[in-house]
Amino acid sequence: MTGKYDIAKLNRDYAVKGRIAFREGPCDEPVIVLAENHGACEVSLYGGHVLSYRPVGYFPVLWLSPSAAECRQGKAIRGGIPVCWPWFGAAGFTAPDGSALPAHGFARTQAWNLLRTDYDSYSTSATLLLTDSPETRALWPGKFRLELKVTIGANLTLELKTFNEGTSDFEITEALHTYFRVKDIGGVAVAGLDSREYIDKVSGAESVRQSGDITFSSETDRIYSDTSEKCFLNDTSLGRRIEIAKSGSSSTVVWNPWIEKSKTMKDMPEDSYKSFVCVETANAAAEKIVIPAGGTHTMTLSISSSFIEDSRK
Ligand code: BG6
Repeated sequence: MTGKYDIAKLNRDYAVKGRIAFREGPCDEPVIVLAENHGACEVSLYGGHVLSYRPVGYFPVLWLSPSAAECRQGKAIRGGIPVCWPWFGAAGFTAPDGSALPAHGFARTQAWNLLRTDYDSYSTSATLLLTDSPETRALWPGKFRLELKVTIGANLTLELKTFNEGTSDFEITEALHTYFRVKDIGGVAVAGLDSREYIDKVSGAESVRQSGDITFSSETDRIYSDTSEKCFLNDTSLGRRIEIAKSGSSSTVVWNPWIEKSKTMKDMPEDSYKSFVCVETANAAAEKIVIPAGGTHTMTLSISSSFIEDSRK
């Protein structure tokens, strides 16, 4: 045993043959391997972070940086599905002690707990839990319970549920910051956001209207608002179409760092921008969620994959 968990004991006590297993993973936190007839995925307790998803008979759906294996405490894993919570992007406020706050909140750099695992004839799932602690309250005063249920079945589904356990309202922004693996960013189009307005974080424009599908030929960093419908990632060079369905989410973030920004990012190879695009299920910018004391909010994401020719049948 190298990490702080005894993986052999976790497997003896909780593994279910062909469905649930544990392995060592980033930052000495266990990774839960979930499988079902239609596919498999892996979830790290470090950050409540989905690392991989492979539907049976299809290509891997998520991109993960090779640097994920060299995880450092306090640093987010690059790739997979980071959980951005309780704020998306820059905090826009300071910590209770006045210090600067990390981008995309703290959930992605905390050690989560495993609450339960479940399986039936159609799916296998794990539910992870993060609660407030002296460490989180030093960054953000909310008293909370955050549950992430990851389910593998015909689709990969994530359900992120925020409970306000305090005595006053709190406000969050959030994202399931999904890194989709693509064959070549130049051959990719995101459909389903036509005519939606977005904030262009590259040009600084506050309100731009999308026309047609989104294609990529330079740095792209956009927050689309009023987008509760599903969208699609068409990767023609691979012949794959990914459907991204959601609920409890009004914003969709589309991000690719392109060449120059990639060079400044030390946690991935320089040419990685060619191999992924982030299409993020979010509540961001002005689309904040106010959760009353004792209240909850749930955001879900469901990802499915097909060959482009399948969807023409
Ligand atoms: C995207 C943001 O969601 O995440 C970008 O829109 C940001 O502005 C990107 O650069 C990556 O963020 P980070 O903190 O993981 O480097």
